[in-house]
Amino acid sequence: MKFDANADDFTIGVIGAGAMGQGIVQVSLQGGMQVLLFDANKEGASAGRDLIFQRLDRSVDKGRLELDAVSQMKNNLILVDSIAAFKSCNVVVEAVFEDLKIKHAVYEELEQHVSSECIIASNTSSLPISSLGRSCERQERFAGLHFFNPVPLMRLVEVIRGPSTDDWVIDGLVKLGERMGRTPVVVRDAPGFLVNTGGRAFTTEALHILHEGVAIQSQVDAVMRDCAHFRMGPFELMDLTGVDVNYPASLIMHEQNSYDPRIRTVPFHKSLYDAGRFGRKTGHGNYKYDAKGNMIDVESPDYQTSSQKATKVIIGEDAEIFSDILAGSGMAVTDDGESPIVAALFGEDCSSFAHRTGLDYRRIVAIDTTGDLSKRVTLMTAPGAAKSVIDSVVALINENGRAVTVIKDSPGFISQRIRAMIGNLGCEMAQIELATPDDIDLAMRLGLNYPMGPLEIIDDFGTDLAHRIMSIMQEITGDDRYRPSPWLRRRALLGLGAHVLS
Ligand SMILES: NC(=O)c1ccc[n+]([C@@H]2O[C@H](COP(=O)([O-])OP(=O)(O)OC[C@H]3O[C@@H](n4cnc5c(N)ncnc54)[C@H](O)[C@@H]3O)[C@@H](O)[C@H]2O)c1
Repeated sequence: MKFDANADDFTIGVIGAGAMGQGIVQVSLQGGMQVLLFDANKEGASAGRDLIFQRLDRSVDKGRLELDAVSQMKNNLILVDSIAAFKSCNVVVEAVFEDLKIKHAVYEELEQHVSSECIIASNTSSLPISSLGRSCERQERFAGLHFFNPVPLMRLVEVIRGPSTDDWVIDGLVKLGERMGRTPVVVRDAPGFLVNTGGRAFTTEALHILHEGVAIQSQVDAVMRDCAHFRMGPFELMDLTGVDVNYPASLIMHEQNSYDPRIRTVPFHKSLYDAGRFGRKTGHGNYKYDAKGNMIDVESPDYQTSSQKATKVIIGEDAEIFSDILAGSGMAVTDDGESPIVAALFGEDCSSFAHRTGLDYRRIVAIDTTGDLSKRVTLMTAPGAAKSVIDSVVALINENGRAVTVIKDSPGFISQRIRAMIGNLGCEMAQIELATPDDIDLAMRLGLNYPMGPLEIIDDFGTDLAHRIMSIMQEITGDDRYRPSPWLRRRALLGLGAHVLS
């Protein structure tokens, strides 16, 4: 029997009627499949079915599904009271508790009943497919099928190839995902798979910025929303997913990736966890929330000044970029010894720039020009900078209709640094062939709602500039967290785009 996910009589078995199992059943029904559902807890299974039916009914009310179609879907779902009932299944997706022993016992029992052509897939979010598949007699028909919560709303599904998985199994699961209305991305078995690994840079780099005293949470979040177009800043996101979830996940991912400093978190993350400041669910995390869930007492990310605007600025470097945001001031390249010196820096901090150029560090105002500057501009000054200088530049930029966030001296500002880290980690994922460059971008856009995929971010900088930012950050900090991926380095050296395959 050839596996055909598009067959009319295609039957899927789902084990586990919890949050994920329900979602998988729903998209399978919407894909016109026969569905058998088993849960060790009988009441849990019928409660799960009731919730699925309620959601389908709501879709009818909203005009998204036809009443007749939903009646047919309901007829296509059968609750079964043992795994033995899965005999006729073409595929079985397991979504039971995240426990290796429980999952192993499920596969051992399952293999006694299903045919040898039946694919067995796990929806695990963190257990390696290699260790899950070990208990299967036929490991070649075992793979991961990683959905995201809530399944009906999240289009992405990661199809995870274990070390023994056959090609027909991967092809079959890709077609199955498509029939469920999802967008499948094939990923190699690795800790955290694709999205959970790729997502580490966004939050951990924000935490490093906080840890180093460069900026506070509201500044980082505002910059990432306004200048980098993320729907939510990294600290808001941490509070939403819960520090009780993302702190342990960070530790596990760091350990399982051989303690790669690229995904290392900071002690403040542990402090939040230890203090029970989990975020929205406890009313306090990075931010405080009132009973209705509104953020309260948030410090403004905007620098306030009532000073006079600068009438003249000295262009320290990369002059042409400033004509729009600094319009209204005279611009000169020769230092008059008193005006603010503005410079666009890339990976470099103000102190290094002053040292390199010999310019007066007290008057240097560095600008991050790598993001969208239409709403907000990020400025940075060296230790010992004159307040009157920064005030006069902020007043000038405010007059041109932009908010200004002023941070402490740091290589890479906020947006430049976090985006370069996301991109570099994406390059590393391409280097180790976790997935194709296009699939890495697609998965990160769909799975995490990123405005661009990581390799698209690198192309947005240009590989040469992205490589320069990472190399300088590594040099200044002495931290291998910032080491450029060989994937990025090679493409930068050759003048190639980030998507060019090896
Ligand atoms: N919740 C998420 O956001 C999410 C996202 C992606 C993947 N996952 C993974 O999906 C799986 C399920 O997660 P969930 O959030 O739906 O869990 P859940 O706790 O909501 O549901 C698990 C269900 O499995 C049932 N069950 C437990 N042992 C069983 C067994 N031996 N046989 C049959 N049924 C059994 C339980 O009764 C329960 O109804 C886990 O592996 C989890 O890591 C979860």
